[in-house]
Amino acid sequence: MKKTYRSGEIILEEGTSGSEAYVITSGKVHVFRSKNGKRFTLAVLGANQIFGEMSMIDERPRSASAAALEDTEVSVINHEAFEELSKSDPTILNIFLKSVFERLRHMDQTVLDAAVGISEEGYTADKVLISGLTPEAEAALGGASMEIRKFPFKVGRKTEGGVHGGFFSNNDLYLEDKKPFNISRNHFSIQAKMPGMFIVDRGSALGSIVNDSRVGGASGMSEIVLQPGENILIVGDPESPYKFKITI
Ligand code: CMP
Repeated sequence: MKKTYRSGEIILEEGTSGSEAYVITSGKVHVFRSKNGKRFTLAVLGANQIFGEMSMIDERPRSASAAALEDTEVSVINHEAFEELSKSDPTILNIFLKSVFERLRHMDQTVLDAAVGISEEGYTADKVLISGLTPEAEAALGGASMEIRKFPFKVGRKTEGGVHGGFFSNNDLYLEDKKPFNISRNHFSIQAKMPGMFIVDRGSALGSIVNDSRVGGASGMSEIVLQPGENILIVGDPESPYKFKITI
């Protein structure tokens, strides 16, 4: 079943009960918790991402609220449909798990950042340009270069739509790739946070190479700060067709 929400409309409310999950088919959703009348952002979700699955599965009250950030359409999955789907195709559970892992990684990074005084608030990015250094990279950008105006700027592999391909990949830039994949569905993001601009790995299989240093994959590094001026970014292995220059 599809439902539509106008910009600003509350979709679900923290503390209430609910047994449905939602997949965003178009639009954006703000997930937040409230304290002393103030909203604290947990995530901004976009097309193909899911929310509300926690209460659907563990039958506890909604852990956060969700509101449409713009006019938004969602597909609603109820508990019974989810049970049916997971019985007929257990790989669906993997997809749910991966989404939870990405959230956990993000939370871990946020906790670490808070401990060392890095904050997503308070850093204003100067002009950030991304340019392709290979034909594939240029084609993905739709031209030689592009200015990045939105942070985090998420990059990942282009997948087929539908339940398996579409769920949980939510990117601002999609890279086409063939097996064996260099690019993961949720590969990395460019983030603006104190004290600068970062390449943050999103749990990718191979990671990336930033100015000759590895981030993500087996490197043990989850993020790397970009230097003022030019930075070379290779997404995946050194032979990857996706090489970019990021200029700050
Ligand atoms: P549920 O608890 O059913 O209702 C609120 C939903 O917000 C929750 O399921 C998740 O889908 C979503 N949610 C909660 N915390 C986060 C988070 N840290 N990042 C992204 N989504 C979240």
